[in-house]
Amino acid sequence: MSPCDLKRHVKFNDLLSANAVHMDALSQAAADIIRSGWYIGGENCQAFESEFAAYIGCEHVVGVANGTDALELAIRSLDLRDTHSILSVANAGFYTATAARLAGMTVKYIDIDPKTQLMDIAQIELSLKGGDIGAVVITHLYGLCADMTPVVALCKNYGVHLVEDCAQAHGARRAGQLAGSFGDISTFSFYPTKNLGAIGDGGAVATNSAELAAKVRQLKQYGWSKKYQVDMDKGCNSRLDEIQAAFLRIKLKSLDSENAFRRSIANRYSAEIHNEKVQTPPRFGPEHVAHLYVVHAEDREAFQSYLSENNIQTDVHYPVPDHLQSVNSGTVVDLKHTEYSASHCLSLPCHLGMSAEDVSWVIQTVNNWT
Ligand SMILES: Cc1ncc(COP(=O)(O)O)c(C=O)c1O
Repeated sequence: MSPCDLKRHVKFNDLLSANAVHMDALSQAAADIIRSGWYIGGENCQAFESEFAAYIGCEHVVGVANGTDALELAIRSLDLRDTHSILSVANAGFYTATAARLAGMTVKYIDIDPKTQLMDIAQIELSLKGGDIGAVVITHLYGLCADMTPVVALCKNYGVHLVEDCAQAHGARRAGQLAGSFGDISTFSFYPTKNLGAIGDGGAVATNSAELAAKVRQLKQYGWSKKYQVDMDKGCNSRLDEIQAAFLRIKLKSLDSENAFRRSIANRYSAEIHNEKVQTPPRFGPEHVAHLYVVHAEDREAFQSYLSENNIQTDVHYPVPDHLQSVNSGTVVDLKHTEYSASHCLSLPCHLGMSAEDVSWVIQTVNNWT
């Protein structure tokens, strides 16, 4: 019997396995910080900010508490007028909408390109011509960096800010350039399941603008210009703590090799899944970081139940598009590809805790679905 003939249990994520390889270094770092007696705003946070800035090729990185705060503070740093809207996609989990709404902005949505599941670049210009868009937020979803050259050019032509949401794209590249280094400002989440994941919450804002970085730094700490002096209204407390920063410094060193591992799983899926009822994405090139492996199936619910009966956990990213969330005040928009994807997409396990046999079991089980 070959190993993949054995019925296996494949989790959707396995954070313990993913972190096991770092266990000694993480434990040592935590112990060192506890013993140091200095827990917030110390040398690890500073060092992580410099090291991550060097990694992505940006001048400034500011650590914050999570990826949603990163988006909110990035948007607020742009000082948009309240007549401005944010242009975004509706298939990326409502994170941009949450941040934009907290920043007092409304969101306008355009559809995705079904081939990439990213913002349909061909539709951006029409929206920018309307004149009320203050910033475009591009989400590099599932680990794929968008084709940024035309987006950067459009934003420049129309005098609109460009924000990159890189929460699912740490280390992803386009023509050799890292996601997060194209726009005016970019944001990262270090939620534990992310390609660069903390052991808790964390986030960062990256930019080449000293002015924007300084605004984010001020906003994330009560609006202080110096200790106890509030010179910026509506600041908040959104800090990356020393222990998480130290963990991220350790894990950053293996981000590229871990991304390559995820990509190898995704590429086995794309090469070996052959079931006409399951639409797979094309093979991932070397610049894709395979954060999620998302297929589409007409009868998604039946497919998901079948996989679950065969001990394969899956998830849906994301079942409710932003414009159909109940809290959205309801501009009616035609987002047919977004809506199709929300009701047919399914994410297969693609993570660092998977063995070759786990991947084979998923492939064999998907191929046997009738
Ligand atoms: C695309 C995207 N943007 C933003 C976020 C928000 O990050 P966080 O959960 O750290 O607030 C996430 C994470 O879940 C995400 O996937």
